[in-house]
Amino acid sequence: MSRYPDTVQFNRLNRPIGVEWTARNLEVQGEIPAEIRGAFFRAVPDPAHAPRDPMDIALSGDGMVSRFLVENGQIDHDIRYVRTPRFEAERRARRALFGKYRNPFTDLPEVQGMDRAVANTTPVWHAGRLLMTKEDARAYEVNPHTLETVGRYDFGGALRSETMTAHVRVDPVTGELFSFGYEAGGLCTDDVAYWIADKDGKLVSEQWFKQPYLSTIHDFAITEKYAVFPLFPTLTDLERLKAGGDHWQHEPDGDSWLGVMPRYGKVEEMRWFKGPKGVSAFHFVNAFDEGDTVHIDICLTSTNAFPFMHRPDDPFNPMTMTGGLTRWSVNMADPNAELQSRVIGPPGDLPRLRDCDQGRAYERFWMPTYDPRLGPPVSGGPVGSCFNALLYVDVTTGQVLDTMTRGPGFAFNEPVHVPSKQPSHAGWILAVIDHEIDFEHHESELVVLKADAISEPPVAVVKMPVALRPQVHGWWVSGEQLDQSKQR
Ligand SMILES: [Fe+2]
Repeated sequence: MSRYPDTVQFNRLNRPIGVEWTARNLEVQGEIPAEIRGAFFRAVPDPAHAPRDPMDIALSGDGMVSRFLVENGQIDHDIRYVRTPRFEAERRARRALFGKYRNPFTDLPEVQGMDRAVANTTPVWHAGRLLMTKEDARAYEVNPHTLETVGRYDFGGALRSETMTAHVRVDPVTGELFSFGYEAGGLCTDDVAYWIADKDGKLVSEQWFKQPYLSTIHDFAITEKYAVFPLFPTLTDLERLKAGGDHWQHEPDGDSWLGVMPRYGKVEEMRWFKGPKGVSAFHFVNAFDEGDTVHIDICLTSTNAFPFMHRPDDPFNPMTMTGGLTRWSVNMADPNAELQSRVIGPPGDLPRLRDCDQGRAYERFWMPTYDPRLGPPVSGGPVGSCFNALLYVDVTTGQVLDTMTRGPGFAFNEPVHVPSKQPSHAGWILAVIDHEIDFEHHESELVVLKADAISEPPVAVVKMPVALRPQVHGWWVSGEQLDQSKQR
């Protein structure tokens, strides 16, 4: 019998694996295009010890960094734990010492005050550094070549914020990193830090502002002129945490907000626009300017899609949840502007954009979704049920241009896009797909798809020697970027 709880967060595809391993020259069916050279980094939560809280969630799991290294049609895979102080302390103790998800009041006395970071959400690449992020703490730098943990990252001592988002934005032209942290001043503070690092990774500005309430700010976006902060009414409360409660509770009658400020401006210039009540989102495809109007495209749902973020008197009900790709727009030239909201595309989440489209008017992107016609979803991942299809969407028409499915029992992780060296070529999509053989047995594979023909058979399928645990987010780093980072 497993020492982990028999809950959806720890069984089936979410069963902890906890094995660090390396494999070279994985078996490739088909052919990996020669122009694909680089590393596909993935953040994979995998709790090294059974949790003290039997209702613990996948997002508490110790972060592992998974790397597919691709060169000359050959592919290696490595996966290592991020050596956070939390991981090291629990490893020494051979048991969990920390308590509930994002509630330090439930930690054992011997680790009170220790960094709770698990570095399990997004591998961020900027200025030759690989940062393993999670939004409730600062990032941990990992050597991209050895996967050894370098340590907690604070931009050379310059960063004041105690937290860093897992969803940074990198301008494709300037190479600048735009980032933020919420609860920046500590647990349950309403401080949000907004900072910019130049193309070399030097922190050039950090400003703090107050958010309207204590909400989770998971993602944000930039345009060429603005920084854009959508907020949703999933809130925390210090007294609830002191009483041993959950960090997040969604408020169905709460307002959503859109904060917009010039991206190189002062936080005092932030304008707040009120959005629909009770809605929720974690990921935004992109934002861009159209004249004076700012648009942001949001994977919006009518309520919070995480069952563990609901109030006991308002439990999650998947039968009533609706959603779709939604565009919020505001005219910044109008002093009395109100937020305009319209659905422009299908439901789904974990969207992937071409890096070169970041912050610019764009046409197409890729996004996993759940299609009930393919049968029940595979149980796994942070939400508890997995996506079973991948969409290629045209946002100018709202049309789904192409769909990849594998039938019942398959689970799609977030893809990455690899640009082609040929300007007229749409590039490639890499994604890990998990297959549920039965509740106790799974297998995983990496697929390589033509980015504009994802329903065609994969150009390459890489069979993994052991099943993988569901990832959260990933990042493609080109061979040239990897080479340059060796000279740092
Ligand atoms: Fe995310």
